[in-house]
Amino acid sequence: MDLTSSTQEIPDAPLVPRHIAIIMDGNGRWATSRYLPRVTGHVKGVEAVRGVVQACAERGVQFLTLFAFSSENWRRPAEEVSMLMRLFVSALEREVKRMHANNIRLKIVGDLTRFDSNLQKMIEEAQVHTAANTGLTLTVCANYGGRWDVMQATQKMMAAMPGITDFSEEDLARHLVMAYAPEPDLFIRTGGEQRISNFLLWQLAYAELYFTDTYWPDFDAASLDAAILSYQQRERRFGRTSAQVQEVRKAS
Ligand code: IPE
Ligand code: IPE
Ligand code: MG
Repeated sequence: MDLTSSTQEIPDAPLVPRHIAIIMDGNGRWATSRYLPRVTGHVKGVEAVRGVVQACAERGVQFLTLFAFSSENWRRPAEEVSMLMRLFVSALEREVKRMHANNIRLKIVGDLTRFDSNLQKMIEEAQVHTAANTGLTLTVCANYGGRWDVMQATQKMMAAMPGITDFSEEDLARHLVMAYAPEPDLFIRTGGEQRISNFLLWQLAYAELYFTDTYWPDFDAASLDAAILSYQQRERRFGRTSAQVQEVRKAS
């Protein structure tokens, strides 16, 4: 796996994004606009996940990362939080077998210590069960925050390098929870908001950003293709001029 850092070296810009990261937003508004309870939007959101996972696998995307629950989502009403936890448990119960059959490697990252022990156990089992799969790596970010990630990586780095007074980007980056994945090529946020909401702060340095008004439950394979097409029309310069990019393209 090519884990080139976008700031240390110039990575290649694959035609099909190697890594897509998505903020799945708009479940609540999808439901509310239909006079349905917000929970129905979350249930529909899980169905949309299934479709997008399959579409990514078919298109040769190697890493798909989904923001499912942020470190700030605990601020929501208690009943919505506990409903989301129950939904998480039932999704794991129902989907892991299917994922395994489809050769998907499942990773769940975030501060998992805040989840109840039954859920933590299920998460661990699901990861172990699918660890050897060689198809799409699906990462679900749960109780994840970009700042938390940089903080925990810094703490781990300091523990691993006692007495350090100086360190490199690489020293830190290898302790981020998604150190196994290349940086996202394409970032998608559904639901109309144009913000990062404390998602992968470090890794999004040079991602192409794509925002759509489509609510997450309506995001399907065609929506994914529209995002990938937009990505393919961008010129990824990584700090260089357009002329330099063209030069490299001609030479290869
Ligand atoms: C995203 O949908 C799912 C989670 C944050 C868990 P929202 O629940 O944020 O939906 P809106 O933004 O209220 O429409
Ligand atoms: C971001 O959505 C987090 C997830 C999709 C899990 P939010 O709906 O929580 O984001 P804000 O609060 O509108 O920024
Ligand atoms: Mg939202």
